[in-house]
Amino acid sequence: MHVTVVGSGFVGQTTAMRLVQGGIAEVVLIDIVEGLPQGLALDLRESARVVGFEPHVIGTNDYADTAGSDVVVITAGFPRQPGMSRMDLLGKNAGIVRSVVEQVAPGSPEAIIIIVTNPLDEMTALAAEVSAFPKERVVGMAGVLDSARLRTFIAEELGVSPLVVQAMTLGSHGDAMVPLPRHATVAGQPLVDLVDEATLERLYARTRDAGAEIVALLKKGSAYYAPSASITNMIEAIAHDTGELLPVCAWCTGQYGIDEVYVGVPVHLSREGVAQIVELDLNEAELAALRAAAEGIRAKCADLAQL
Ligand SMILES: NC(=O)c1ccc[n+]([C@@H]2O[C@H](COP(=O)([O-])OP(=O)(O)OC[C@H]3O[C@@H](n4cnc5c(N)ncnc54)[C@H](O)[C@@H]3O)[C@@H](O)[C@H]2O)c1
Repeated sequence: MHVTVVGSGFVGQTTAMRLVQGGIAEVVLIDIVEGLPQGLALDLRESARVVGFEPHVIGTNDYADTAGSDVVVITAGFPRQPGMSRMDLLGKNAGIVRSVVEQVAPGSPEAIIIIVTNPLDEMTALAAEVSAFPKERVVGMAGVLDSARLRTFIAEELGVSPLVVQAMTLGSHGDAMVPLPRHATVAGQPLVDLVDEATLERLYARTRDAGAEIVALLKKGSAYYAPSASITNMIEAIAHDTGELLPVCAWCTGQYGIDEVYVGVPVHLSREGVAQIVELDLNEAELAALRAAAEGIRAKCADLAQL
């Protein structure tokens, strides 16, 4: 697999490290800042003999070096600062994502684009429009991260390993996140049998605000270990056709009664991108929340078109 990571900031560089160290892909790291991706790639290659991996990573400022990529991950753009919502980044990051897609897409016309830049759902829709790629080859990373955070909080609440916790969130990356309590399990037991309603609500609220919790602690910039792990998870699913069901920001064409909009839904990824959107058994309240999230994203995308 040839993967281009656009943006060599915290999320981009940790993603490159995970991919190359894990032997998952050969990586081209690119950034607008001269020297930054080259320096990071050199540093990574110099760690290869110590850690024990093949040093297949280069850094560049030239999009010609990204040609023929199988996957393009876009992390270029501003992160949040304390007190900011993801939506506060809309205007600033739209210009960056537009220019990146215009430069990277022509050289890698068969690539799957994974958007990471916030606000996630709207930037994914923008990248699909600008690239004019088939929509199944343009997706956004958020649900894997939100679900990982939820699984962590459930595990810490119950004093178990996150490895035995299954839980998924759908909807948008923000306030309209849709948790699915009826589908969550801990070591095979339904979560709803293990915690009361108030605890569930507390865990979901913390998950919804988990990005802001880290922004407030760091005071400068936002999370990157769990985000880069989540991107890597998606790329492994693509590379190995694992069939793993992942919550992904994907283009809906009638699934869940949602049409012609990007929103977080359960997806099987493959070398073709979105192989299938899986329709879980949702109750009326869950369906209504997912549809409301989709309509919120549609409205924001309309705002974006006016910018
Ligand atoms: N989807 C998610 O779940 C998720 C999680 C974490 C972060 N994010 C988002 O990812 C983005 C990156 O976060 P970060 O912590 O890595 O930020 P960062 O500031 O550390 O890095 C951003 C990088 O983008 C580069 N950049 C800016 N404009 C560019 C351009 N036109 N072309 C190429 N590179 C350009 C900058 O030089 C910088 O190196 C932010 O928008 C953040 O909100 C999303």
